[in-house]
Amino acid sequence: MASHYPSVATRSIINNPITIDLRSDTVTQPDQSMREVMAGARVGDDVYGDDPNVNALEHETADLLGKQAGLFLPSGTMSNLTSVLAHCQRGEEVLVGDKYHISCDEAAGAAVLGSVAMHALQTDEFGRFNLEQVEAAIKPNDYHCPITRLLCLENTVGGCVQEQSHIDALVDCAKSHGLATHMDGARLLNAAVAQNLPPARLVESIDTVSLCLSKGLGVPLGSVLLGPSIVIERARRLRKMLGGGMRQAGIIAAAGRYALQHNIGRLAQDHQRTQELATALDGVQGLNFDRARVQTNMLFLQSPQMPALASYLAKRGIAITAIGESARIVLHMQIDNAALQQVVEAIQGFFERK
Ligand SMILES: Cc1ncc(COP(=O)(O)O)c(C=O)c1O
Repeated sequence: MASHYPSVATRSIINNPITIDLRSDTVTQPDQSMREVMAGARVGDDVYGDDPNVNALEHETADLLGKQAGLFLPSGTMSNLTSVLAHCQRGEEVLVGDKYHISCDEAAGAAVLGSVAMHALQTDEFGRFNLEQVEAAIKPNDYHCPITRLLCLENTVGGCVQEQSHIDALVDCAKSHGLATHMDGARLLNAAVAQNLPPARLVESIDTVSLCLSKGLGVPLGSVLLGPSIVIERARRLRKMLGGGMRQAGIIAAAGRYALQHNIGRLAQDHQRTQELATALDGVQGLNFDRARVQTNMLFLQSPQMPALASYLAKRGIAITAIGESARIVLHMQIDNAALQQVVEAIQGFFERK
């Protein structure tokens, strides 16, 4: 779902050093063990296919998600863009949720760089659109229309896990109309852990998947695009074209491999702490949120006093993403129980002030 980046005004109030950063799980930093793995990583020139850690990461993520091949990219945005360009030609069209990252947080890259049109489908508060919307949006074979080529899904959406039977039904529908399918799985592993399902099950029927390493897994940067070998080979050329061919990228890939081994299971702790935060804030006068949407590591708050709350927290070293009366709080590996307790006390303290 469209992330809520802090406005310039909100950023400017964060002039105290941030000690507890709840703006996103992208702020996580590599821990000491990950840094040691990075420092000792064997590397090679990945544009020549020589980097052992990149090659291993691509194989290991492909295995994890049950796909034939993988491609390591610098960011989730480039991974999504590369996939859309690999699936679609000029004048073709993508169906995508109106609040999904591809639709509103990637600077219209597919339109600008690929002449690919986006048809945004309205999503509900859980990030869903339905089969009827997909059916209605697929264009007829009529030369007045673009050719509908690809359905893009996202999981999780704004922290909400997408129901698997619903995803499967959407994919079946897309395939029955000859569409390819792509999953923005920036936080797919949160969805897998929350449902206690193997990650491959979540994307079984989907053609390509973009998996971010730099969100809750704690890697400094990087995403892997997974899919059929033939699509990934096309994507490899596109990655070079977009300037994403990296050289000794194994330093980062080694961190990614480390995270896949050590940091997936611990996402459950972030989910548990998010529930604890929701419980602690439930009933606070002046603060609202939809408990049903608290499913993984995100909490979306509403309050007429939000700007003042954000400023109050910032003065105490706690950063949240606040826009108008809304705010997003994201829990991650750097928020332990002590930090959580400070956050609860600060928010409760703000609303209890006389
Ligand atoms: C759902 C989703 N997809 C894709 C991305 C893009 O990832 P990156 O910031 O690595 O480009 C993000 C980033 O926050 C995201 O939240």
